[in-house]
Amino acid sequence: MTNGTIPAGIPDDALFILNPAIIWLCDEFGSVGFYRIPGQSAPVRRFTMLETDILEHLSTGATKAEILNRFDVEPSALTRFMESLDIWGEGALRWQNKQESQALADHNRLIAAARLRDIAMAMAAKADENDQFHKAQLTDAQRQFDQIETTISHIFREPHVALDDRSYGQAFCDWLITSGQMKSSCKIIEIGCGLGYFAKAILDRLEAVYPDIYDGLSYTLFDLSPELQAAQKSNCSRHAGKTHFVSGNIETHDFEDQRFDLALSNEVIADLSVATISLDNIQSGSPQSEAEIIAQDYQLDCVPIAQGNQRLAVINFGAIKMLQNVDKCLNENGYAVVTEYGSLDQSPKAVRFSNHDEYTVHFGQLEQVAQQLGIYHNRGTMGDMIGFNSNCETIRMESLRTLCDCLLPYLGRQSLPVLAYTPVSLKDALGELMDRIGNLQFLRLDDPASFSPFRFELLSLSRASQKGA
Ligand SMILES: C[S@@+](CC[C@H](N)C(=O)[O-])C[C@H]1O[C@@H](n2cnc3c(N)ncnc32)[C@H](O)[C@@H]1O
Repeated sequence: MTNGTIPAGIPDDALFILNPAIIWLCDEFGSVGFYRIPGQSAPVRRFTMLETDILEHLSTGATKAEILNRFDVEPSALTRFMESLDIWGEGALRWQNKQESQALADHNRLIAAARLRDIAMAMAAKADENDQFHKAQLTDAQRQFDQIETTISHIFREPHVALDDRSYGQAFCDWLITSGQMKSSCKIIEIGCGLGYFAKAILDRLEAVYPDIYDGLSYTLFDLSPELQAAQKSNCSRHAGKTHFVSGNIETHDFEDQRFDLALSNEVIADLSVATISLDNIQSGSPQSEAEIIAQDYQLDCVPIAQGNQRLAVINFGAIKMLQNVDKCLNENGYAVVTEYGSLDQSPKAVRFSNHDEYTVHFGQLEQVAQQLGIYHNRGTMGDMIGFNSNCETIRMESLRTLCDCLLPYLGRQSLPVLAYTPVSLKDALGELMDRIGNLQFLRLDDPASFSPFRFELLSLSRASQKGA
């Protein structure tokens, strides 16, 4: 498999795969193409009628031989067209050789190299970068979630067919109630609240459907970012009598004698700090840093990284500090729910956004910490726990971003809110225009290439009983 220039001698049975971030707008002469590459954009480009037909064919995956058979085009002209796509924008077209073993070996080598690079980036992380970013550099709250990063709770903030016509916050609220984690006179703290949509959905839902619980409720929104906290205050203003706003860093904040019944942290802990530790220091019984002491105390299962003759590892230091803090501020019968993108046993890796880095979470280590704090836990994918319908098809993020950032502005049309559109809801939003757009891709929610709740973990912690909820 290759990503680079398309070589002239590509075998006829090579499979071409068009980048999902390319879309085009058909007109009477052919089409106008758009390609958004994160952090940049390829220039708007015209395609002839024939080229548009070829693109249409490529969008579902096609071999060179199939295209040559179907269209009246010389092999050299087809090669030139394919090369021109790559010149237009890097990575526009990939081709996959039928010689499986070689292609697979190349592919696996690329994945392994990317994994090492992402782990190396996590090892280079600075302890205070999250603090700096959220306090000083995050200056446009809405843009942050619409154009730079996004969360499941953000794209499912409107009622959605995958959640039986409820928003993510509403479905989450129902799940908290049915699993017994939210009862009357509940004191809730939400840690890391983004634009406040999640809090608002929970408060709206309680008011409308569970008024007894809403009556005695107190909801604290805890956050590090002044910009986001201003958005939270505005979005939750209708519930002013119930809400409290606290600024702070959850890794270090001292709650003194404040106690809560329920702590929620939805898609936050990837922001928190990571630390590199020496497994040799721990093994020899001489930890040198707070992170090494933590790893030793909780006997964390770390993924070793060999560097020279040293054995190092990366841990989600900030997430562990948050669990310790939650443990201190929860009431005796309290609950906590933590969700994030991650896995059970893999080393934290950097995920790079245009203005900050985040880190995947090793949930196995968080479970070890919970166990040793004496908090009972239960874990599953967010998709399964909250009850997303995995069959539901939603727009691929790459398609949506090119649509919102390139095609709609080109037409002078207002951009769409960033949501998990289904084919039906996108048609509602775009009307007839949708029929003229090529390569808008939709994926099932359980497809690994989709931005999916089934790729997120949900850890439910309980001080109340022998079992997590
Ligand atoms: C990715 S957003 C998630 C927002 C929201 N929970 C949602 O699901 O859409 C992360 C949030 O956590 C906050 N945050 C990041 N680091 C934090 C920290 N150390 N202490 C408190 N809040 C933090 C950010 O300001 C932001 O509001």
